[in-house]
Amino acid sequence: MASLTIRKLDEAIKVYLRLRSAKNGRSVEEEVRVILGEIMQGRPFEFATTPSQRSPSPADELSRAPGRAGALDQARVTLIIGGGIAAYKALDLVRRLKERNTRVRCVLTRAAQQFVTPLSASALAHERVYTDLFDPESEFDAGHIRLARDCDLIVVAPATADLMAKMANGHADDLASAILLATNRPILLAPAMNPLMWNNAATRRNVAQLQRDGTVMIGPNAGEMAEAGEAGVGRMAEPLEIAAAAERLLRPPRPRPLKGKRVLITAGPTHEPIDPVRYIANRSSGKQGFAIAAAAQAAGADVTLVSGPVDLDDPPDVTVKHVESARDMLRQVEAALPADIAIFAAAVADWRVATEGEQKLKKTAAGMPPLQLVENPDILATISKLKDQRPPLVIGFAAETEHLIDNAKAKFARKGCDWIVANDVSPATGVMGGDRNTVHLLTRDGAEIHVDSWPVMTKEEVATALVARIAETIGKAS
Ligand SMILES: Cc1cc2nc3c(=O)[nH]c(=O)nc-3n(C[C@H](O)[C@H](O)[C@H](O)COP(=O)(O)O)c2cc1C
Repeated sequence: MASLTIRKLDEAIKVYLRLRSAKNGRSVEEEVRVILGEIMQGRPFEFATTPSQRSPSPADELSRAPGRAGALDQARVTLIIGGGIAAYKALDLVRRLKERNTRVRCVLTRAAQQFVTPLSASALAHERVYTDLFDPESEFDAGHIRLARDCDLIVVAPATADLMAKMANGHADDLASAILLATNRPILLAPAMNPLMWNNAATRRNVAQLQRDGTVMIGPNAGEMAEAGEAGVGRMAEPLEIAAAAERLLRPPRPRPLKGKRVLITAGPTHEPIDPVRYIANRSSGKQGFAIAAAAQAAGADVTLVSGPVDLDDPPDVTVKHVESARDMLRQVEAALPADIAIFAAAVADWRVATEGEQKLKKTAAGMPPLQLVENPDILATISKLKDQRPPLVIGFAAETEHLIDNAKAKFARKGCDWIVANDVSPATGVMGGDRNTVHLLTRDGAEIHVDSWPVMTKEEVATALVARIAETIGKAS
């Protein structure tokens, strides 16, 4: 039998396997075994690596990590329905969760089936329902483990006194308790029982233990019981309350570390007119600057993006000023001050023609028109050296085709900015116009310059990492 050394696999395959195994809570070797097993059973296998269909980036994985479904992603909930009177309300909960773009897989305990039928649950969930730990149809590949882990959250509603006692003590003698013991996903419990059961010393001990173990509880509420004449604390929280609590665990509010900060960003190339129809330009696509603007906006900043001519949609909720030339760009940058952070990612043309032709230049017998070049304003240096309105953090980009770090260090000294993001834009890298970037972040500590080299990332990932670094620095300073 041949053996396989994961270390020797292609990098893209390793990244895919690492992400998939982490997501499923398995070792990489186990994941390979599962994939091979699935292929043997004839299940379709898709290995997406191209940029458009690529394997999930660390940022995607973060948003799909347990309990972190992205805002628009379909979240996955395993709903365990326990055997209490409130089980009928769990059917409404299925609907409430589905309204929130959530896939719901129901597990009914044996007692739950005395109160609601698997048929009702499956009709509402549009999925088959699971009831039996020893079900040959779903257990041929340890289905209870899949129910425990192929989800973003487990909800138990109603959580009976019995189920909580089993959980607190690590029992696993039926499907529901085995799932609860085998999961590494967050668990939300909606207890429901008679007030005397809720107040019983054993239940109190179990509840305290479960809270120490990290389960989250919603309810129980006070009110009338199903039993005639009884009232007190023990009613299951309403389905809408449970769905809202699930939503908070599935899609927690994003941290907004740049809230209240004004961020100014430049992006794209500039076009320097030669005559009414011709111009000097460069190959910058603007993708990196646009990604930074979107990441800063997502971090809560008030963002102004000054962009040269690009073929990109304006990022949502960002003030975008469209410009052509370096001089227009400087004017708009100055108009956007004051700012707390300025990031100059645009590839501004260094030169323009001294005298722009008023009409289209013509071929003449006198030969080629003399195109004399003059220097454009240096936006980064101008803003870095401002006396009054200099933003507290000024970040320049250094696009170089050779001697990257040395040239970036020299630029640092000349421009007077605080950080430089250096990237190699030689044609072989495909950075200009491409979707990926390899950057080095140069920062200063007194006279010393630190160079932090980041791995190859998508431009969105570079943007997220840069914004995180800015947030960390600003957080330390304030
Ligand atoms: C009519 C009736 C209503 C019940 N209601 C509840 C209840 O609201 N909460 C609870 O914890 N147990 C209740 N029980 C007891 C549970 O059904 C019993 O403890 C069962 O073993 C729970 O099984 P399970 O936890 O596997 O679902 C009720 C029993 C009956 C017969």
